[in-house]
Amino acid sequence: MPDQYAVIGNPVAHSRSPLIHEAFARQTGVDLEYRTLLAPTDGFTATANEFRAGGGRGLNVTLPFKGEAFRYAAFLSERASAAQAVNTLKFERGVIFGDNTDGAGLVNDLTKNLVRALSGQRILLLGAGGAARGVIDPLLQQQPLQLTLANRTPDKAQSLARSFGGAIEAGDYDALAGRQFDVIINATSASLAGKLPPLPPGVFAPGALAYDMMYGKGETPFLAFARNEGVAQLADGLGMLVEQAAESFFVWRGLRPDGAAVLKQLRQMQNA
Ligand code: ATR
Repeated sequence: MPDQYAVIGNPVAHSRSPLIHEAFARQTGVDLEYRTLLAPTDGFTATANEFRAGGGRGLNVTLPFKGEAFRYAAFLSERASAAQAVNTLKFERGVIFGDNTDGAGLVNDLTKNLVRALSGQRILLLGAGGAARGVIDPLLQQQPLQLTLANRTPDKAQSLARSFGGAIEAGDYDALAGRQFDVIINATSASLAGKLPPLPPGVFAPGALAYDMMYGKGETPFLAFARNEGVAQLADGLGMLVEQAAESFFVWRGLRPDGAAVLKQLRQMQNA
């Protein structure tokens, strides 16, 4: 039987992870099967245990289970500890290892696919939930000139910034008036509701890049706002999805697949 992998979530039926990992398996000549695994919202542990008992080798974890997966893992990578969330579980010799490849996925998409070096850049990260927390440490490692967090509820952004030891400044959206940033990343869930975080006009520096971690058919309100502000480089989160998967594949198999080739394929499907 080929090695078994799955993405666990709720809902999970529309996940593109099976397609991505099957493409990676073909690229690298690895024999594996990858499927979706729907867990009841109160049944993450039971579902993961059952998968593991059946010989499953690893899981990707998506909403709403990244926090539970963090507690489920017996051993954690440094980046999973920093994120306090796990999106990749590896089952090996009876041990449950938890990792988080979301931040690496974002950074790889920005630096490789979008060819945007982050060192010396003024980065603005919107949101202070799990999605933002997961990418802070990997962004800091790129040595930006500054990392600023903005959140509707500023207390949440400030307490998140404090947990990273003062290397970050944090506040509300009003505090952004009159300031400019080179890279603005939307890690809020606003796009899901068709909403736009309350950004002031003029917040994008000349040559800025706008990145929305969400993706789907059509432009998100954040990317539409950025386009309207004259931003030339716009990106949705499809590249991050592919690159976090590539990093998970590496964690499981020790082989690095070519994310860019698979991203191109997905873009064609997205635009079809
Ligand atoms: P996730 O784990 O996906 O980050 P979350 O923990 O629920 O989800 O966090 C959602 C984030 O999106 C929060 O930062 C939230 O802002 P608040 O902390 O002020 O609630 C932000 N968010 C959601 N809708 C928003 C909107 N319409 N405008 C601005 N920020 C929004």
